[in-house]
Amino acid sequence: MYFRKTTSSDFPAIFQIYESSVSFMKEIGNPNQWKNIEDIKNRVGDDVKKGISHVLVDEGKIQAVFTLLETSDPTYQTIEGKWIDNSPYFTIHRIAVKEHNKGYASACFHYAYLQNKHIRIDTHEENLPMRKLIEKEGFTYCGKIHIEDGSPRLAYEKVVSFSELLLNWYQEKGRKLPWRENPSFYHVYLSEIMLQQTRVETVKRYYERFLETLPTLQDLANAEEDVIMKLWQGLGYYSRARNLQKGARHIIEKDLSCDTYEELLKVPGIGEYTAKAILSIVYNKPYIAVDGNLIRIYSRLCCSSYDSKSKEIKDRCNKYFLSLLEKDPGSFNQALMDLGELVCLPNTLPKCEDCPLKQFCQSYKEKNQEKYPISLKKGAKKEIDKTVFLLSYQGKYLIRKRPNKGLLASLYEFYNVDKDFHLPEAKEYLEKNGFSINSIRKDKKGKHVFTHLIWEMSGFRVELKDFPKDLGFLLVTKEELEELYPIPSAFKIYLTEILK
Ligand code: ADE
Repeated sequence: MYFRKTTSSDFPAIFQIYESSVSFMKEIGNPNQWKNIEDIKNRVGDDVKKGISHVLVDEGKIQAVFTLLETSDPTYQTIEGKWIDNSPYFTIHRIAVKEHNKGYASACFHYAYLQNKHIRIDTHEENLPMRKLIEKEGFTYCGKIHIEDGSPRLAYEKVVSFSELLLNWYQEKGRKLPWRENPSFYHVYLSEIMLQQTRVETVKRYYERFLETLPTLQDLANAEEDVIMKLWQGLGYYSRARNLQKGARHIIEKDLSCDTYEELLKVPGIGEYTAKAILSIVYNKPYIAVDGNLIRIYSRLCCSSYDSKSKEIKDRCNKYFLSLLEKDPGSFNQALMDLGELVCLPNTLPKCEDCPLKQFCQSYKEKNQEKYPISLKKGAKKEIDKTVFLLSYQGKYLIRKRPNKGLLASLYEFYNVDKDFHLPEAKEYLEKNGFSINSIRKDKKGKHVFTHLIWEMSGFRVELKDFPKDLGFLLVTKEELEELYPIPSAFKIYLTEILK
């Protein structure tokens, strides 16, 4: 490895280095001046022409470009200052810059980047205190840099690990989510249950409102079921809400500490993923929460295909990330969750240029990211035609409670049947089933997609002559409908119509 002045035949190689470094420069937060390659070429070109640029050559190839700051150009001094202060990848000791009013503030990071290393070219051989300091920070000496017109400098390197890159990225780009502010057991438990099959943006609102009404695990255990269901209304998968309360009661009754995998798995509603997420986030225990998103990341990192019916992939994915986990399991897991949602996206090309792990990613290297993960074949969903009757009597509405088992158990609904009626049949059906009709007209059509089935709904507005007793209906006002009774999102289109 040696350092020499640039010659004009170095230009193509230098520009190539700059070109492939642009995105990296953005990533490490360098000044705006570096954001476009033309700009960089112009700037570098000027400096090279002035003869103040140097190259670092290793194994016969230019590995890095240096610009000695013998310029009074204030732009360069700004770049230098920020870069030296902020870059986690490359630092040049300030003293050298101050003393000599020159440094190597340029694309030298490229070398470090290629090798996944944090490099320091810092000090003179005789500066023993500085050498000790650098070594104390975990750097090892990797060679002398010879400068034609100056004394040699020592170069040090430190490998930046997968885990460090991921955690640094998380600190800078990770999402600020309400349950991350104070990750107590109750907060993480509640958020993880809400996040099962539901998007983060939706959960945020529900989570905060839920905690305002039920701020502690004890409050949750003591609450009325209808209060919980009302707080859950619109989130879907209502058995989660009921299990959440069962879980809270179980934990309190048995006085569980909830900090072991075995104990957590016995809590109703907590499965493998949730238990591992809780253990890592709340108790900093070394577990990996494996779900479809993580399998996608793994599958791209390792170009790994798998049998979608087999559980073996979960195991492989778990082992892979466990082997890379060095510290802070909670942040490690949450960083991976954010990476899956923000960068390593499903069903589209991932945003690889924004990914802190791209240098570890096999499918990035092979440019076949869109091939992974191997798509799973999902069974077609069953479609059910429904007629929904919006029954009213004297300005109030008729609703009934659903059975306490099965789909949307214990929630309230508008009267509905699994048939697609036209108007005359709808009228006939109601009359046969004990309703006396004042007026009936068609309302909107609606569709609701569950995980395993789809409802195709036709609505009818029906004004009744009498309130049918003994059919299990409640007669409620609009306000009660809105505030008291949990109506599942499947009926949202009709609820909105009524509340208009
Ligand atoms: N998905 C599941 N758990 C999550 C969490 N803790 N943060 C963000 N997304 C998640």
